Amino acid sequence: MSRESVRRQVVAKASEIAPGTVKLVTVADREIGIFNLGGEFFALANRCPHAGGPLCAGRIVSLVQSDGPGSYRLARDKEFLRCPWHGWEFDIRTGQSWCDPHSVKARPFAVTVEPGESLAKGPYVAETFPITVEEDYLVIEH
Ligand code: FES
Repeated sequence: MSRESVRRQVVAKASEIAPGTVKLVTVADREIGIFNLGGEFFALANRCPHAGGPLCAGRIVSLVQSDGPGSYRLARDKEFLRCPWHGWEFDIRTGQSWCDPHSVKARPFAVTVEPGESLAKGPYVAETFPITVEEDYLVIEH
């Protein structure tokens, strides 16, 4: 995709999505889940690459690691998403499947936090979204 064809859209106030939660938005007729991981924002298509399930409706979980039978520990606290249909897990930061990271990936989107003051000046137009200079906003590239 060329740089010229990337479009940006304001989709939410940053303050709307609390740490550890997700908000579904629609961008260009596509559902996208925006996740807040401890103050960092990530976005994934709400479509599981396994069989098309509503991925972003799944539970946000930690990674379980094991050194052998009877030994396990939790890592990457609440940074994985478990699809509600068949339980496949995906890294919220990258969209990669934990089980098969080389061939299966949920589609990620770039999301940035922009101050309302800069959005109000442009060049991005948020035709359907009221912007105030006091707030920070989430902008999706698609
Ligand atoms: S559709 Fe998501 S794991 Fe099967």
